[in-house]
Amino acid sequence: MTFPYTRMRRLRTSPAMRRLVGQTRLSASDFVYPLFVCPGRGVKEPIGSMTGCFHFSVDRVVEEAREIAALGIPAVLLFGLPEKKDGVGSEAWSAESAVCRAVAAIKQAVPELVVMTDVCLCAYTDHGHCGILKDGRIDNDATLERLSEMAVAHARAGADGVAPSDMMDGRVLWIRRALDEAGLTDTAILSYAAKFASAFYGPFRDAAHSAPADGDRKSYQMDPAAGAQAMREIALDIEEGADMVMVKPALAYLDIIRQAKDRFDIPLAAYNVSGEYMMIHAAAEKGLCDVQQTMLETLIAIKRAGADIIITYFAKDAARIMQK
Ligand code: PBG
Repeated sequence: MTFPYTRMRRLRTSPAMRRLVGQTRLSASDFVYPLFVCPGRGVKEPIGSMTGCFHFSVDRVVEEAREIAALGIPAVLLFGLPEKKDGVGSEAWSAESAVCRAVAAIKQAVPELVVMTDVCLCAYTDHGHCGILKDGRIDNDATLERLSEMAVAHARAGADGVAPSDMMDGRVLWIRRALDEAGLTDTAILSYAAKFASAFYGPFRDAAHSAPADGDRKSYQMDPAAGAQAMREIALDIEEGADMVMVKPALAYLDIIRQAKDRFDIPLAAYNVSGEYMMIHAAAEKGLCDVQQTMLETLIAIKRAGADIIITYFAKDAARIMQK
């Protein structure tokens, strides 16, 4: 059966018909909203490199968390800025860090919201690398100790999940063991399993003050050309005890998301990163596209590729549309 008996346009004749056959459905429940917390009081400071995003002090982040929960978004992912940086990033595992205090404050005020934390040293080290440096090189195994302490500190503060984003080998196993030894058996691990060394992190590094002072992250984050390693990275993290895994960034890696979805039975997250977010805002500012339409098309593409969870700075804007 072909034309004129078959007409594909029959299923596009009205908005209701298109809705009926539109297989990919976005919902506020798909989203995780990233938040940046900083030291101080009364701070809600716009982030220059990221339209619509703010640095919040602990006292101000609570009202934001309430708004996020009211929009039907189930989870937030916290990034922290330290009071001061040093060679090893010691504020990362302090119980007094802005992140630990924010976790406790949010869990107390909005207990129904899932609170996850980014576990990585880059915002806390003065050299901006995600690991401990020894003779100018990343010391993988020494870094694992620090990351484990950081994860335990966040979990003790009440985090429902910890999300290691450093890309050291073995960190999921070490963190799981440390959490369990501390009696924190219910804290979930969302691993940034397939995280690529990407130029799309640019606006975030401005926001988190976490750009490496020299060099790049190519000795630990994945090479965009080496897609097959992504499946091994994910398989290893699942074996080490990850409860959820992530592909990051999302848009230039939709093929990786699809492969992971087909291969693994585990909740799969995709991180729609800062550069992907700001590309749309920047284009819209130039009058080249409509933010809302481009945003929705992008989020649907990530979901269609196979993501169960989408971490996105668009979460609030998209959830608002879905509430209508
Ligand atoms: C920390 C980290 C980064 C992002 C999330 N966690 C930056 C990096 O690896 O350089 C990027 C998030 C974004 O761009 O939105 N390691």
